[in-house]
Amino acid sequence: PDPEIAMNEADNWPYPVKGYTSYDELFADQANLPEEERVDYVLIVTPNFVHFDPAMKALELDLPVMCEKPLTVDLEQADQLVAKAKEKNVPFAVAHTYLGHWSSWFSRFIVQSGLLGEVRWVDSYYLQGWLADKLEDTGQMQAEWRTDPKKAGGSGCGGDIGTHALMQLRFVTGLDVERVSARLEKFVPGRPIDDHFTIYGEMSNGGKCLVRASQICIGHKNDLGIMIAGTKGALKWRQEDPERITILLDGQPDRDYWRGAVSANDGFLGDVPEWLIDEPTIPCGHGEAFHDAYARLHREFEKDVRAYQSGDEWSCDGSKYANIDDGRMGLAFIDACLKSDEADGAWEAVTKG
Ligand SMILES: NC(=O)c1ccc[n+]([C@@H]2O[C@H](COP(=O)([O-])OP(=O)(O)OC[C@H]3O[C@@H](n4cnc5c(N)ncnc54)[C@H](O)[C@@H]3O)[C@@H](O)[C@H]2O)c1
Repeated sequence: PDPEIAMNEADNWPYPVKGYTSYDELFADQANLPEEERVDYVLIVTPNFVHFDPAMKALELDLPVMCEKPLTVDLEQADQLVAKAKEKNVPFAVAHTYLGHWSSWFSRFIVQSGLLGEVRWVDSYYLQGWLADKLEDTGQMQAEWRTDPKKAGGSGCGGDIGTHALMQLRFVTGLDVERVSARLEKFVPGRPIDDHFTIYGEMSNGGKCLVRASQICIGHKNDLGIMIAGTKGALKWRQEDPERITILLDGQPDRDYWRGAVSANDGFLGDVPEWLIDEPTIPCGHGEAFHDAYARLHREFEKDVRAYQSGDEWSCDGSKYANIDDGRMGLAFIDACLKSDEADGAWEAVTKG
């Protein structure tokens, strides 16, 4: 954090914005402003160890927050934030970007519609290769803090991208991971924190799952994906090909559905809800990707923030973006994984808040 860079950036922004040398200065300023002149919400995009403090300070001022994942560095901090957000009754989002893909919403609908039957098995994964060597020793900023347990939290790879794989599973299936048997591995010599994360889990409906993440799979970029196997069929989705959702039923050809090209009743899917079909998107074939997913999270969060500001009902119910309870579940999951790994993979329960 360099105050000079922050002020220069603000001065050179294409439209007028006010710069601050620290977030404490920003919050002090906000505290003295009349409500209608305050920021709509605070976006926290700092490394994991700089989530808790600004989030708490924003909540103290009744300001809504969208915070990057993982919510905090440990479960204790996450529990404190949840308590504060509930006490203040303020909208709070956690930026699990991939939930903002239309295809994630569609996948959730497909599972809920029962087309796949009861979910028996899920493989939810996030594979990267950028930490296959000791990049942190070169001074690369993103690698440095992500491999320092004090800054990243107890799990490196798991906290950073395993939580995305977990959230994708929870959002699309509507199920929780309730027990875990975990292996947190350090493939790169001298690294104090896991760079490979493999979790075998039991879901709330009795089904089983793999939640896995890796940062040492050379060549893999942001290979997040999910495969859901139910008693009647399966569904596959990958964020590097985010417009396509594949549905597989026994004895039938694979069906690829594309964002923007689903109709209300195509003779196979049944009634797809209008809100899902009407969700504003650019025409199909003009690819949506990561930034569009982010934009959709913000758009949905902003609806709740506007309602909150005008005293109307707001939901923040986790059906369009991750909320603070989802963020806490990410940390509860990591906490259970760390304990299980320490106990040589013994089953460990994921605590509910
Ligand atoms: N949702 C996603 O898809 C996604 C993707 C990438 C990163 N992230 C998350 O976003 C966060 C940031 O990751 P990144 O890769 O962008 O990190 P980064 O290192 O690129 O950037 C962090 C920024 O925070 C600033 N900063 C650090 N300490 C600060 C402080 N005390 N006060 C003010 N500013 C400070 C740094 O100067 C830097 O500009 C992490 O929590 C990460 O997990 C989420």
